[in-house]
Amino acid sequence: ESVTKGSHDHYMRKEIHEQSNALRECLRDRFSTGDSVSLDAIEDGYRPESVHLVACGTSYHAALYGAKLLRKRGIQAQAHLASEYALSPPPVRDGALVVGVTQSGETADTLSALRTATAEGARTLALTNVVDSTAARECDDALYIRSGPEISVAATKTFASQLVTLVLFALQSSGQTSDETERLVSALTELPEHVQRLLETTAAPTTARRFADSSGYFFIGRGVQYPVALEGALKMKEITYEHAEGFAAGELKHGPLALVTEDTPVFVSVVGDDETARKTVANAKEVKARGAPLVAVTDGVSSIDRFADEVLTIPRTNRTLAPILVNVQYQLLAYHTADHLGRDIDKPRNLAKSVTVE
Ligand code: G6P
Repeated sequence: ESVTKGSHDHYMRKEIHEQSNALRECLRDRFSTGDSVSLDAIEDGYRPESVHLVACGTSYHAALYGAKLLRKRGIQAQAHLASEYALSPPPVRDGALVVGVTQSGETADTLSALRTATAEGARTLALTNVVDSTAARECDDALYIRSGPEISVAATKTFASQLVTLVLFALQSSGQTSDETERLVSALTELPEHVQRLLETTAAPTTARRFADSSGYFFIGRGVQYPVALEGALKMKEITYEHAEGFAAGELKHGPLALVTEDTPVFVSVVGDDETARKTVANAKEVKARGAPLVAVTDGVSSIDRFADEVLTIPRTNRTLAPILVNVQYQLLAYHTADHLGRDIDKPRNLAKSVTVE
Protein backbone atom coordinates (compact mmCIF):
# COMPACT_ATOMS: atom_id res chain seq x y z
CA GLU A 1 0.00 0.00 0.00
CA SER A 2 1.52 3.32 -1.00
CA VAL A 3 1.65 6.10 1.57
CA THR A 4 1.35 9.75 0.52
CA LYS A 5 1.77 13.07 2.31
CA GLY A 6 -1.85 14.02 1.64
CA SER A 7 -2.39 17.73 2.28
CA HIS A 8 0.72 18.00 4.47
CA ASP A 9 4.04 19.53 3.36
CA HIS A 10 6.05 16.77 4.98
CA TYR A 11 5.54 13.20 6.11
CA MET A 12 6.70 14.25 9.57
CA ARG A 13 3.84 16.72 9.92
CA LYS A 14 1.37 14.14 8.66
CA GLU A 15 2.69 11.54 11.08
CA ILE A 16 2.51 13.96 14.03
CA HIS A 17 -1.13 14.54 13.11
CA GLU A 18 -1.82 10.81 12.79
CA GLN A 19 -1.00 10.25 16.44
CA SER A 20 -4.48 10.23 17.87
CA ASN A 21 -5.61 7.58 15.36
CA ALA A 22 -2.42 5.61 15.89
CA LEU A 23 -3.09 5.58 19.63
CA ARG A 24 -6.69 4.47 19.10
CA GLU A 25 -5.37 1.57 17.05
CA CYS A 26 -2.71 0.83 19.67
CA LEU A 27 -5.36 0.59 22.40
CA ARG A 28 -7.99 -1.33 20.41
CA ASP A 29 -9.08 -4.60 22.10
CA ARG A 30 -6.32 -4.49 24.71
CA PHE A 31 -8.63 -4.67 27.71
CA SER A 32 -10.26 -8.00 28.44
CA THR A 33 -12.57 -7.10 31.33
CA GLY A 34 -12.80 -3.66 32.87
CA ASP A 35 -9.29 -2.47 33.59
CA SER A 36 -7.52 -5.78 33.06
CA VAL A 37 -5.06 -5.63 30.16
CA SER A 38 -4.78 -8.43 27.65
CA LEU A 39 -1.88 -8.49 25.20
CA ASP A 40 -2.01 -11.33 22.66
CA ALA A 41 1.76 -11.56 22.62
CA ILE A 42 2.03 -12.46 26.29
CA GLU A 43 0.11 -15.19 28.08
CA ASP A 44 -2.17 -14.01 30.89
CA GLY A 45 -0.52 -14.43 34.26
CA TYR A 46 3.07 -14.19 32.95
CA ARG A 47 5.11 -12.16 35.45
CA PRO A 48 8.76 -11.49 34.55
CA GLU A 49 11.12 -11.37 37.55
CA SER A 50 13.21 -8.70 35.87
CA VAL A 51 13.14 -6.84 32.57
CA HIS A 52 16.01 -5.41 30.51
CA LEU A 53 14.91 -3.08 27.76
CA VAL A 54 17.39 -2.66 24.89
CA ALA A 55 17.01 0.04 22.25
CA CYS A 56 18.60 2.89 20.26
CA GLY A 57 17.73 6.51 19.55
CA THR A 58 14.12 7.48 20.11
CA SER A 59 13.27 3.91 21.06
CA TYR A 60 15.85 4.12 23.87
CA HIS A 61 13.95 7.08 25.32
CA ALA A 62 10.79 4.96 25.22
CA ALA A 63 12.74 2.19 26.97
CA LEU A 64 13.81 4.60 29.75
CA TYR A 65 10.17 5.49 30.27
CA GLY A 66 9.12 1.82 30.26
CA ALA A 67 11.76 0.92 32.86
CA LYS A 68 10.50 3.65 35.19
CA LEU A 69 6.93 2.36 34.87
CA LEU A 70 7.89 -1.25 35.51
CA ARG A 71 9.94 -0.31 38.59
CA LYS A 72 7.03 1.70 39.91
CA ARG A 73 4.97 -1.49 39.67
CA GLY A 74 7.52 -3.53 41.61
CA ILE A 75 9.37 -5.19 38.71
CA GLN A 76 13.15 -4.85 38.50
CA ALA A 77 13.78 -3.08 35.21
CA GLN A 78 16.58 -1.27 33.44
CA ALA A 79 16.92 0.38 30.04
CA HIS A 80 20.14 -0.20 28.11
CA LEU A 81 21.56 1.37 24.99
CA ALA A 82 21.60 -1.62 22.67
CA SER A 83 25.09 -0.79 21.35
CA GLU A 84 26.47 -0.99 24.91
CA TYR A 85 24.47 -3.97 26.15
CA ALA A 86 26.63 -6.75 24.75
CA LEU A 87 29.82 -5.22 26.19
CA SER A 88 28.68 -5.71 29.78
CA PRO A 89 25.36 -7.57 29.77
CA PRO A 90 23.66 -7.66 33.15
CA PRO A 91 23.39 -11.21 34.55
CA VAL A 92 20.39 -13.08 33.16
CA ARG A 93 18.72 -14.77 36.13
CA ASP A 94 15.68 -17.06 36.09
CA GLY A 95 12.58 -15.26 34.94
CA ALA A 96 14.49 -12.48 33.14
CA LEU A 97 12.89 -10.99 30.07
CA VAL A 98 14.80 -8.89 27.54
CA VAL A 99 12.62 -6.54 25.52
CA GLY A 100 13.91 -5.06 22.26
CA VAL A 101 12.15 -1.75 21.71
CA THR A 102 12.54 -1.08 17.99
CA GLN A 103 10.16 0.64 15.61
CA SER A 104 11.61 -1.01 12.51
CA GLY A 105 12.60 -4.30 14.08
CA GLU A 106 15.76 -4.11 11.93
CA THR A 107 18.25 -1.97 13.89
CA ALA A 108 21.52 -3.90 13.95
CA ASP A 109 22.56 -2.81 17.45
CA THR A 110 19.21 -3.88 18.91
CA LEU A 111 19.20 -7.21 17.07
CA SER A 112 22.70 -7.88 18.32
CA ALA A 113 21.73 -7.12 21.94
CA LEU A 114 18.71 -9.43 21.60
CA ARG A 115 20.93 -12.21 20.21
CA THR A 116 23.29 -11.78 23.15
CA ALA A 117 20.34 -12.06 25.53
CA THR A 118 19.12 -15.23 23.80
CA ALA A 119 22.59 -16.75 24.05
CA GLU A 120 22.59 -15.97 27.78
CA GLY A 121 19.29 -17.86 28.15
CA ALA A 122 16.86 -14.96 28.52
CA ARG A 123 13.34 -14.97 27.15
CA THR A 124 13.00 -12.19 24.54
CA LEU A 125 10.18 -9.95 23.38
CA ALA A 126 10.18 -7.61 20.37
CA LEU A 127 8.15 -4.45 20.91
CA THR A 128 7.93 -3.26 17.33
CA ASN A 129 5.86 -1.60 14.64
CA VAL A 130 6.74 -3.93 11.79
CA VAL A 131 5.00 -7.26 11.53
CA ASP A 132 7.38 -10.06 10.62
CA SER A 133 10.48 -7.84 11.03
CA THR A 134 13.73 -9.56 11.99
CA ALA A 135 13.25 -8.71 15.69
CA ALA A 136 9.67 -10.00 15.58
CA ARG A 137 10.81 -13.25 13.98
CA GLU A 138 13.87 -13.86 16.14
CA CYS A 139 12.35 -13.06 19.55
CA ASP A 140 10.24 -15.52 21.52
CA ASP A 141 7.28 -13.14 21.28
CA ALA A 142 6.32 -9.96 19.42
CA LEU A 143 4.18 -7.16 20.77
CA TYR A 144 3.05 -4.77 18.03
CA ILE A 145 2.59 -1.06 18.57
CA ARG A 146 0.26 -0.72 15.52
CA SER A 147 1.29 2.79 14.40
CA GLY A 148 1.03 2.15 10.67
CA PRO A 149 3.92 3.02 8.32
CA GLU A 150 6.22 5.85 9.39
CA ILE A 151 8.12 7.39 6.47
CA SER A 152 9.85 10.43 7.95
CA VAL A 153 13.29 9.58 9.31
CA ALA A 154 12.54 11.26 12.64
CA ALA A 155 10.26 9.01 14.68
CA THR A 156 7.07 10.69 15.95
CA LYS A 157 3.86 8.67 16.09
CA THR A 158 5.75 5.46 16.76
CA PHE A 159 7.27 6.97 19.93
CA ALA A 160 3.79 7.76 21.30
CA SER A 161 2.61 4.25 20.47
CA GLN A 162 5.72 2.73 22.07
CA LEU A 163 5.01 4.60 25.30
CA VAL A 164 1.37 3.51 25.37
CA THR A 165 2.32 -0.10 24.60
CA LEU A 166 4.86 0.03 27.43
CA VAL A 167 2.14 1.27 29.79
CA LEU A 168 -0.03 -1.69 28.75
CA PHE A 169 2.91 -4.05 29.13
CA ALA A 170 3.68 -2.72 32.63
CA LEU A 171 0.04 -3.09 33.64
CA GLN A 172 -0.15 -6.67 32.38
CA SER A 173 3.27 -7.72 33.72
CA SER A 174 2.61 -6.51 37.24
CA GLY A 175 -0.94 -7.85 37.28
CA GLN A 176 -1.77 -5.28 39.95
CA THR A 177 -5.20 -3.75 40.13
CA SER A 178 -5.80 -0.73 42.28
CA ASP A 179 -7.60 2.58 42.16
CA GLU A 180 -4.45 3.96 40.54
CA THR A 181 -4.65 1.33 37.79
CA GLU A 182 -8.29 2.14 37.18
CA ARG A 183 -7.50 5.83 36.83
CA LEU A 184 -4.63 5.07 34.47
CA VAL A 185 -6.78 2.83 32.26
CA SER A 186 -9.53 5.42 32.10
CA ALA A 187 -6.97 8.12 31.19
CA LEU A 188 -5.56 5.83 28.46
CA THR A 189 -8.95 5.65 26.78
CA GLU A 190 -9.15 9.46 26.73
CA LEU A 191 -5.61 9.95 25.48
CA PRO A 192 -6.33 9.92 21.70
CA GLU A 193 -8.86 12.74 22.18
CA HIS A 194 -6.40 14.71 24.30
CA VAL A 195 -3.78 14.44 21.56
CA GLN A 196 -6.33 15.60 19.00
CA ARG A 197 -7.31 18.60 21.11
CA LEU A 198 -3.66 19.54 21.64
CA LEU A 199 -2.99 19.39 17.88
CA GLU A 200 -5.94 21.69 17.22
CA THR A 201 -4.97 24.30 19.82
CA THR A 202 -1.16 24.27 20.01
CA ALA A 203 0.84 27.49 20.09
CA ALA A 204 4.05 25.65 19.15
CA PRO A 205 4.40 27.29 15.68
CA THR A 206 4.56 30.77 17.25
CA THR A 207 6.98 29.68 19.98
CA ALA A 208 9.17 27.93 17.41
CA ARG A 209 9.40 31.06 15.25
CA ARG A 210 10.23 33.25 18.25
CA PHE A 211 13.22 31.12 19.21
CA ALA A 212 14.28 29.81 15.78
CA ASP A 213 17.53 31.76 15.71
CA SER A 214 18.79 30.75 19.13
CA SER A 215 22.30 29.41 19.64
CA GLY A 216 21.13 26.26 21.45
CA TYR A 217 18.14 24.58 23.05
CA PHE A 218 17.88 22.80 26.38
CA PHE A 219 15.12 20.52 27.60
CA ILE A 220 14.66 19.56 31.23
CA GLY A 221 12.29 17.20 33.02
CA ARG A 222 12.12 15.12 36.18
CA GLY A 223 10.83 11.55 36.73
CA VAL A 224 8.67 10.37 33.81
CA GLN A 225 9.28 13.75 32.18
CA TYR A 226 13.02 13.07 31.91
CA PRO A 227 12.86 10.65 28.92
CA VAL A 228 10.80 13.20 26.95
CA ALA A 229 13.33 15.94 27.74
CA LEU A 230 15.92 13.68 26.04
CA GLU A 231 13.54 12.97 23.18
CA GLY A 232 12.61 16.65 22.75
CA ALA A 233 16.29 17.49 22.37
CA LEU A 234 16.95 14.57 20.01
CA LYS A 235 14.07 15.60 17.72
CA MET A 236 15.34 19.19 17.72
CA LYS A 237 18.92 18.26 16.79
CA GLU A 238 17.90 15.62 14.23
CA ILE A 239 15.83 17.91 12.05
CA THR A 240 17.09 21.46 12.77
CA TYR A 241 20.86 20.63 12.92
CA GLU A 242 21.04 23.01 15.89
CA HIS A 243 22.62 22.16 19.21
CA ALA A 244 20.08 20.75 21.65
CA GLU A 245 20.49 18.76 24.87
CA GLY A 246 18.12 17.17 27.32
CA PHE A 247 18.89 16.94 31.04
CA ALA A 248 17.31 15.60 34.17
CA ALA A 249 16.05 18.78 35.83
CA GLY A 250 17.96 17.97 39.03
CA GLU A 251 21.26 17.62 37.14
CA LEU A 252 21.26 21.16 35.76
CA LYS A 253 23.05 22.59 38.77
CA HIS A 254 25.76 19.91 38.49
CA GLY A 255 27.19 21.31 35.27
CA PRO A 256 24.82 22.09 32.42
CA LEU A 257 23.76 25.36 34.04
CA ALA A 258 27.09 26.77 32.84
CA LEU A 259 25.79 26.50 29.25
CA VAL A 260 22.68 28.58 29.87
CA THR A 261 22.60 32.12 28.41
CA GLU A 262 19.97 34.55 27.22
CA ASP A 263 20.37 32.99 23.79
CA THR A 264 19.52 29.43 24.87
CA PRO A 265 15.83 28.84 25.52
CA VAL A 266 15.13 26.19 28.13
CA PHE A 267 12.05 24.02 27.71
CA VAL A 268 10.69 22.54 30.90
CA SER A 269 7.72 20.21 31.40
CA VAL A 270 5.80 20.51 34.64
CA VAL A 271 2.65 18.50 35.29
CA GLY A 272 0.48 18.68 38.40
CA ASP A 273 1.69 20.34 41.59
CA ASP A 274 3.21 17.55 43.65
CA GLU A 275 6.71 17.47 45.11
CA THR A 276 8.26 16.43 41.78
CA ALA A 277 6.56 19.34 40.04
CA ARG A 278 7.61 21.80 42.74
CA LYS A 279 11.25 20.71 42.55
CA THR A 280 11.16 21.13 38.76
CA VAL A 281 9.66 24.60 39.17
CA ALA A 282 12.58 25.47 41.49
CA ASN A 283 15.05 24.25 38.83
CA ALA A 284 13.25 26.33 36.20
CA LYS A 285 13.57 29.41 38.41
CA GLU A 286 17.35 28.90 38.56
CA VAL A 287 17.43 28.96 34.75
CA LYS A 288 15.32 32.08 34.59
CA ALA A 289 17.54 33.81 37.17
CA ARG A 290 20.49 33.27 34.80
CA GLY A 291 18.67 35.11 32.03
CA ALA A 292 17.60 32.19 29.81
CA PRO A 293 14.18 32.38 28.13
CA LEU A 294 11.92 29.79 29.75
CA VAL A 295 9.23 27.86 27.89
CA ALA A 296 6.94 25.79 30.09
CA VAL A 297 4.98 22.84 28.75
CA THR A 298 2.35 22.34 31.39
CA ASP A 299 -1.20 21.41 32.32
CA GLY A 300 -1.55 24.73 34.17
CA VAL A 301 -1.78 23.26 37.68
CA SER A 302 1.56 24.44 39.13
CA SER A 303 2.87 28.00 39.46
CA ILE A 304 5.19 27.70 36.43
CA ASP A 305 2.89 29.72 34.11
CA ARG A 306 3.45 32.79 36.27
CA PHE A 307 7.07 33.27 35.41
CA ALA A 308 7.64 31.35 32.15
CA ASP A 309 8.24 33.51 29.05
CA GLU A 310 5.99 31.24 27.01
CA VAL A 311 3.55 28.51 27.94
CA LEU A 312 2.53 25.55 25.81
CA THR A 313 -0.52 23.95 27.33
CA ILE A 314 -1.37 20.27 27.45
CA PRO A 315 -4.76 18.84 28.44
CA ARG A 316 -4.97 17.56 32.01
CA THR A 317 -4.45 13.83 32.25
CA ASN A 318 -2.95 11.14 34.46
CA ARG A 319 0.64 12.08 35.34
CA THR A 320 2.06 8.86 33.91
CA LEU A 321 0.59 9.67 30.49
CA ALA A 322 1.35 13.39 30.43
CA PRO A 323 4.82 12.89 28.84
CA ILE A 324 3.07 11.67 25.68
CA LEU A 325 1.25 15.01 25.39
CA VAL A 326 4.35 17.03 26.32
CA ASN A 327 6.22 15.21 23.59
CA VAL A 328 3.67 16.16 20.94
CA GLN A 329 4.42 19.82 21.76
CA TYR A 330 8.15 19.07 21.47
CA GLN A 331 7.65 17.36 18.09
CA LEU A 332 5.77 20.41 16.82
CA LEU A 333 8.44 22.77 18.15
CA ALA A 334 11.18 20.84 16.37
CA TYR A 335 9.12 20.60 13.19
CA HIS A 336 8.27 24.31 13.00
CA THR A 337 11.82 25.37 13.92
CA ALA A 338 13.23 23.15 11.16
CA ASP A 339 10.63 24.44 8.70
CA HIS A 340 11.54 28.04 9.55
CA LEU A 341 15.23 27.22 8.98
CA GLY A 342 14.44 25.53 5.65
CA ARG A 343 15.84 22.12 6.61
CA ASP A 344 15.22 18.84 4.79
CA ILE A 345 12.71 17.71 7.40
CA ASP A 346 11.82 14.21 6.21
CA LYS A 347 15.37 13.25 5.27
CA PRO A 348 17.82 15.02 7.59
CA ARG A 349 21.44 14.92 6.49
CA ASN A 350 23.54 11.94 7.59
CA LEU A 351 20.63 10.05 9.16
CA ALA A 352 18.76 6.89 8.15
CA LYS A 353 15.37 5.60 9.21
CA SER A 354 16.76 2.25 10.11
CA VAL A 355 20.45 1.62 10.76
CA THR A 356 21.44 -1.89 9.78
CA VAL A 357 25.13 -1.73 10.68
CA GLU A 358 26.62 -1.84 14.18
C1 G6P B 1 17.71 5.45 13.62
C2 G6P B 1 16.60 6.48 13.42
C3 G6P B 1 16.01 6.90 14.77
C4 G6P B 1 15.56 5.66 15.53
C5 G6P B 1 16.70 4.65 15.70
C6 G6P B 1 16.20 3.33 16.27
O1 G6P B 1 18.82 6.05 14.18
O2 G6P B 1 17.09 7.63 12.74
O3 G6P B 1 14.89 7.76 14.57
O4 G6P B 1 15.06 6.03 16.79
O5 G6P B 1 17.28 4.36 14.42
O6 G6P B 1 15.31 2.75 15.35
P1 G6P B 1 14.36 1.57 15.68
O7 G6P B 1 13.74 1.18 14.37
O8 G6P B 1 15.18 0.46 16.27
O9 G6P B 1 13.35 2.08 16.66
